Amino acid sequence: MKVLVTGANGQLGMSLRRIASFLFTDVEELDITDLAAVRNMVAREQVDCIVNCAAYTNVDAAEDNPALAELLNARAVENLAVAMKEVDGLLVHISTDYVFGAEVLNTPIPETQHPAPLAVYGRTKWQGEEAILRSGVRHIILRTAWLYSEYGKNFVKTMLRLTAEKPSLKVVCDQVGTPTYAGDLAAAILRILENPREGIYHYTNEGVCSWFDFAKAIASLAGNDACDIQPCRSHEFPSNVHRPAYSVLDKSLVKATFGLQIPYWLDSLRLCVAQLKDQ
Ligand SMILES: NC(=O)c1ccc[n+]([C@@H]2O[C@H](COP(=O)([O-])OP(=O)(O)OC[C@H]3O[C@@H](n4cnc5c(N)ncnc54)[C@H](OP(=O)(O)O)[C@@H]3O)[C@@H](O)[C@H]2O)c1
Repeated sequence: MKVLVTGANGQLGMSLRRIASFLFTDVEELDITDLAAVRNMVAREQVDCIVNCAAYTNVDAAEDNPALAELLNARAVENLAVAMKEVDGLLVHISTDYVFGAEVLNTPIPETQHPAPLAVYGRTKWQGEEAILRSGVRHIILRTAWLYSEYGKNFVKTMLRLTAEKPSLKVVCDQVGTPTYAGDLAAAILRILENPREGIYHYTNEGVCSWFDFAKAIASLAGNDACDIQPCRSHEFPSNVHRPAYSVLDKSLVKATFGLQIPYWLDSLRLCVAQLKDQ
C-alpha cells in the first residue's frame, strides 16, 4: 500500500516520520486545499492511502478565522476524500475530542455519541468528518485529544518553560481529558494500517486528568519543583473560546478492533519529558 502523509511537519506528522517510511508532504509540497494538486499527487505517486495529519489546530485563533479553519478542517478534507474515492483508496483522518463539549458528559465518550461542538475548531473538524462520510470514501476517522510531542508548540513544552521560569502559575482544573503522546498515536496508526477496518474510532492515552494535574506532572517529572502551581477555574482566564469540561474518550472499540495496548498517559509523559530534557 502506497501511503501519503499530509501535514508532515506537524506534531503527528513528525512522529510518524520517526517510525515509518511513507511519502511525507507538508503545505510546501502539497497544499491540501488545492484539489487539483491533491489529484495530481495521488496519480503521480500512485497513492492508495492518505493519512491526513494536516489541520488548522489553533483553537483560539479559529474563533477569529472561522473561514480559514473551515477551509483546512472541512473543505480540504473533502478534497482528500474525493481524491481517494476516485482511486478507491483509503483515507485515514485525524479528528478531535472537541467535536464534543456542548452536552455536559461525565463518562468516557463512545463513538456513538452524537457530536455537539462548543466552538469553531470543533465545529469545522466535525464538518470534515461529515464530508468524509458523505463522499463514500473508504475511511478511518481517529478522534484524539490533548496531543503533545517533542515537536512544534504544545502544552508540555510550554509548561516545561513556564515552570522553570516562574515562581507560581495557575492552571485550570475544571477541564478534564486525557493527554496523548503523538508518538503513541503514530504507532497506533501503523498498527491500524496493517489491517485497516473502516469506521470512526477514539484513541487517546489511558487515564484521566485535568490541565492542572497535567501541569503538576510535567513540572514534577522535569524537577521544576520551585514553581508553585495552583488550580483555578476556566472563567478566571479571559478567553473567547469555550472548551469542553469533560472530553474523555472511550477507547474500547479501537482496542478491541485492532488489538492495541494503549500506554497510561503518565508513562508516556515521562518518556517525552525525558526526551525533551535531553535535547
Ligand atoms: N494538537 C492537539 O492537541 C490535537 C488534539 C486533538 C486532535 N488533534 C488533531 O490531530 C491532528 C494532528 O494535530 P497536530 O497537533 O499534529 O497538528 P499541527 O502540529 O498543528 O500540524 C498541522 C500541520 O498541517 C500543516 N498544514 C497547514 N495548512 C496546510 C495545507 N493547506 N496543506 C497541507 N498542510 C497544511 C501545518 O503546516 P504549517 O505548520 O506550515 O502551517 C502543520 O504542519 C489534527 O487533525 C488535529 O486536528 C490535535
